[in-house]
Amino acid sequence: MNDGNGLHIAINEVAPRDGLQMECAFVPTDDKVALIDALSALGYAKIEVTSFTSAKAIPALKDAEAVMQRIRRMPGVVYTALIPNGRGAERALACRTDEFNLVMSASETHNLANLRMTREQSFAQLAEVIALARGAGVPANVSLSCVFGCPMEGEVAAEDVMRWIDRLAAAGATGITLCDTTGMAYPTQVQALCARALQRFPGLPFTGHFHNTRAMGLVNTLAAIEAGIRQFDMSLGGIGGCPYAPGASGNVATEDVVHMLECMGYRTGLSVDALIDAASHLQQLLGHALPAQVSRAGHRLRRHAPPPSQPRAAA
Ligand code: COA
Ligand code: ZN
Repeated sequence: MNDGNGLHIAINEVAPRDGLQMECAFVPTDDKVALIDALSALGYAKIEVTSFTSAKAIPALKDAEAVMQRIRRMPGVVYTALIPNGRGAERALACRTDEFNLVMSASETHNLANLRMTREQSFAQLAEVIALARGAGVPANVSLSCVFGCPMEGEVAAEDVMRWIDRLAAAGATGITLCDTTGMAYPTQVQALCARALQRFPGLPFTGHFHNTRAMGLVNTLAAIEAGIRQFDMSLGGIGGCPYAPGASGNVATEDVVHMLECMGYRTGLSVDALIDAASHLQQLLGHALPAQVSRAGHRLRRHAPPPSQPRAAA
C-alpha cells in the first residue's frame, strides 16, 4: 500500500443531496441553507447542494430552487446538483447551478425503479441535456448508479458498465462518477473497474462514490485511489442512500475517510476536527445518531485521561 506523499484528493460533500434525500423528516429550507453555508467554509472542492427531481419522487428535496438560490457561494467551491431529466436541467440552469450531475443506472431494473425510464430512454434524455449544458457552458458529469452490482439484478457485468461509459463519453459527458449505490463493491473489483475505466479514458475525470452498507466504504476508497481515482463523493456523518434501491444505506462518512487519508499522508484541504464539529451540528439538526465512527471516537491521537487507579486488592 502506498503512502499518500502529499497527493491531493478532491472531496465532494453529498450529505445535502444523497444524505437528506433519505431522511424521513423534512429538513426546513433555512436549515438546509445554513448547513450548506457552514460546509462551504470547510474546504471542500465541491458540494452537491440538492436534486432537481420530481417532488413526488424525492419529497425531501422539493425546495431545490430555494436552496440553490439562497446559499452563499464560496469562491473555489463547485456547487453541483443531481438532475434526472430535461426538466431538471432547465430548473438547475435557471438557478445558476455550477455543474450538472446527471444520473442514470447501469442496471435496467434500478433505472426503471429510480427514474421510471429504461436505460435507453434515460440515455436519450441525458444526451440532450449534455448538449444543452455544453451550449450554456456548464459541465455535465454523469453519476452511473449500480456499477458494482444491483440489489435486484445481482452482478452487473463490467462490459456493460464500460459500454455505458463509452456512450456517455461520446455524448460529451465531462466526467463520470462510478457509484456503488448499495455497498456491493469489494476492493479487487473496484481496483479492476477503476483501472479499466482510467486506461480507456485517461483524460476523463472519474469520481468514486461508495456506500458503506457492508462496511467496505473505506477499503473501496483506498482501492480506487490505488487504481488512480483522485476525486470522491462522501457524506458527512455517513448519512444517505437511494430510496429506490432496496437495502440502501449511508455513504461512506466524510470524517472517516478524511481521517484515514490524513493519517496516510494524503491532502484533502479539510480538517478532521472541523468535520467532527460539523457532524455534531448535523446530528442535532437531524435528531438521530449518525453512522460515522470518527465523530464518535475522535482523532486517533485524541488523548483520554487515564481511568482512576484502583488500589491493588490485598493478597
Ligand atoms: N422536476 C420536477 N418535476 C418533474 C421533473 C423534474 N425534474 N420531471 C418530471 N416532473 C413532473 C412532471 O412535470 C409531472 O408533473 P405533473 O404530474 O404535475 O404533470 C410529473 O413530474 C410526472 O412527470 P413524468 O415525466 O411522467 O415523470 P415520472 O413521474 O415518470 O418521474 C422522474 C420521472 C425521473 C422525474 C422521477 O422518477 C424522479 O425524479 N426520480 C429521481 C429519483 C432520485 O433522485 N433518486 C435518488 C438519486 S439516485
Ligand atoms: Zn449514493
